[in-house]
Amino acid sequence: MDLSKMKVITSCFIALLCVYGALGIECPDVEVNDYFDVERYMGVWYEIAKYPNIFQLNGKCTAAQYTLADGKVIVNNTQIRNDKYENIVGSAVIAPDANGKAKLLVTFIVGGINVTAPYNVVATDYNGYSLVWSCEPFLGSIYENSWILARERTLREDQKIIVDAIIERNNLNRTRYIDTDQTGCE
Ligand SMILES: *[C@@H]1O[C@H](CO)[C@@H](O)[C@H](O)[C@H]1NC(C)=O
Ligand SMILES: *[C@@H]1O[C@H](CO)[C@@H](O)[C@H](O)[C@H]1NC(C)=O
Ligand SMILES: *[C@@H]1O[C@H](CO)[C@@H](O)[C@H](O)[C@H]1NC(C)=O
Repeated sequence: MDLSKMKVITSCFIALLCVYGALGIECPDVEVNDYFDVERYMGVWYEIAKYPNIFQLNGKCTAAQYTLADGKVIVNNTQIRNDKYENIVGSAVIAPDANGKAKLLVTFIVGGINVTAPYNVVATDYNGYSLVWSCEPFLGSIYENSWILARERTLREDQKIIVDAIIERNNLNRTRYIDTDQTGCE
């Protein structure tokens, strides 16, 4: 084989690797709470901010209620949209690969189909804040979500500092979070 043929083959190979690389965008490494006490996590969490997503457009007063029943977590997500309360009920289980970590799988029935998504608690103190992150490969790219949650409708300044540090440590994108309107909810 002459050198020019060799060059063509090599550059094709490299080009293929590049295409493969572009298609193979992987979920980033985000550390997940090593020890997870699911019982302490139950109750109501208010959404403080999130990566924008198509399922939650124009919602305000967004909250999630988690209740333990028969080893499963019942998830009740509520929000106000167009001045009306709406809610969706789903369930969550600890993921098979969790190994004691805070990795859950949440399932909602959307249009008659079970839609399951990962739900990873990156860090929580159970009674103040929780940072949740979710990532899945999607059509050669990734579909990433994140939520900042709190036990109150606002996050205290000292809690904000902790949450921002967690975001930074995990290379999550601080400017991507949009604040959730938690005013005029009662
Ligand atoms: C979900 O929350 C709403 C609003 O608080 C409530 O009306 C509804 O009964 C709850 N559903 C379940 C299954 O807990
Ligand atoms: C959908 O999820 C519900 C709740 O987890 C489960 O009971 C049901 O069997 C699932 N259905 C299908 C078709 O997977
Ligand atoms: C972070 O999010 C902002 C707002 O969505 C976006 O413009 C920017 O490209 C993101 N940065 C990275 C490194 O992904």
